Amino acid sequence: MTGTKLWSGRFTEETDARVEEFTASIHFDRRLYRYDIKGSIAHATMLARQGVITDDECSSIVSGLRAIQDEMEQGVFVFDSGQEDIHMAIEAALISRIGHAGEKLHTGRSRNDQIALDLRLYLRDEITGVIDCIGRLKQVLLRRAKEEVDTILPGYTHLQKAQPVRLSHYLLAYREMFDRDEERFRSCFERVNVMPLGSAALAGTSIPIDRAYVAELLGFPRLSANSMDAVSDRDGPAEFIFDAALTMTHLSRFCEDLILWSTDHFGFVEMADSFTTGSSIMPQKKNPDTAELVRGKTGRVYGDLMSLLTVLKGLPMTYNRDLQEDKEPLFDAADTLVSSLDVFEGLVETMAFRRDRMFEEAARGFATATDLAEYLVTQGIPFRSAHNIVGRLVGYCLEQEKDFSGLSLEEIRQFYSDADETVFELFSVQASPDRRSVPGGTAKSAVLQRIKEIEEADEH
Ligand code: ARG
Repeated sequence: MTGTKLWSGRFTEETDARVEEFTASIHFDRRLYRYDIKGSIAHATMLARQGVITDDECSSIVSGLRAIQDEMEQGVFVFDSGQEDIHMAIEAALISRIGHAGEKLHTGRSRNDQIALDLRLYLRDEITGVIDCIGRLKQVLLRRAKEEVDTILPGYTHLQKAQPVRLSHYLLAYREMFDRDEERFRSCFERVNVMPLGSAALAGTSIPIDRAYVAELLGFPRLSANSMDAVSDRDGPAEFIFDAALTMTHLSRFCEDLILWSTDHFGFVEMADSFTTGSSIMPQKKNPDTAELVRGKTGRVYGDLMSLLTVLKGLPMTYNRDLQEDKEPLFDAADTLVSSLDVFEGLVETMAFRRDRMFEEAARGFATATDLAEYLVTQGIPFRSAHNIVGRLVGYCLEQEKDFSGLSLEEIRQFYSDADETVFELFSVQASPDRRSVPGGTAKSAVLQRIKEIEEADEH
């Protein structure tokens, strides 16, 4: 304790120490200092242009704020423990340094529209950073997918072997998810990119300010249209955390696959030593902790989303101090997402695919049963009967403990009397995916077509 409160006028008692500690947000909102100062410089510049403050007052405010920013950047700024949030800390420091002129900065402004502005400035940067991270991961996925066009592995449904697919098709499935994630963040940016300053506490201000000029200085294409909405709206943070949560969902699914694939039961991937960890007791272990932690941290981000939505639920108009609880989940979701994307990109970049193991597993366990059933359809057999014939053939193989490849023509003819040698081609795991040449299918032609479309879209 304690500097004098900037709002001390109507108070006769000091703030209880417990209240001071309980209401403070400075320990987490200080990371907004750059945005707070940027907004204040624009506000002061506008006030001077409007003749509300003099040019001299404006220059002394701007240089005072810049000096404070330099100190904060270097980590030498001394925070006055009596100031509850970043807005108060900066304003109080400014006043103590430049005096009278500093007292004019808060003209026509409230902390309510100030924090709304800071959050929007912060989110614009954060979203841009997230889009960069997603973009890097998307590039790695495309590169690896192009290397694996001829790699065949079993595709699964219900985690049971289903049909052979191309590894590139599998990798590009995640690429589709991250494309949509990126799109969501871009559209979130558009709604965040709105200038709320001038809403003041809730009703606007009688001071002759110029909102459009502030928006221009800060690069906002639009002004918020309703002051009451502007000071209580937290849709931007909520949308951002949802977009982060869904991106984490996609990452967690990918991680789960890779964790399974790195077991010796699957043996489909070998993660790089540099992206795995060892066991303190079992010398043979190499653990996929990076992927497990990304999967685990997905839960945190869901929690962040729940926290914020719950804070917002049923809040009366307009600003309520509950809204201060928006920042920690927002920052946590952003930090978790960025670090997860970053480390996951490295994991995907460096892991080795074991093509031989993938092929071996694709060749076992009747993954081409649908190929045979669809072939029977081309021979005039209704699909349901074809399904039944192949199902009985699989049952026979299981009884005889053999794969399709171990069957003789005579055995096959017990189930389909018109069978000739060509049925054996249907059991080829290498050839199977190419029969699925529908757009969006796993045939080489379809996969190469999609790669071409992705590359064309990336160029724009
Ligand atoms: N620290 C506050 C927040 O994060 C700033 C706005 C405070 N406004 C107020 N009227 N107490 O929401």
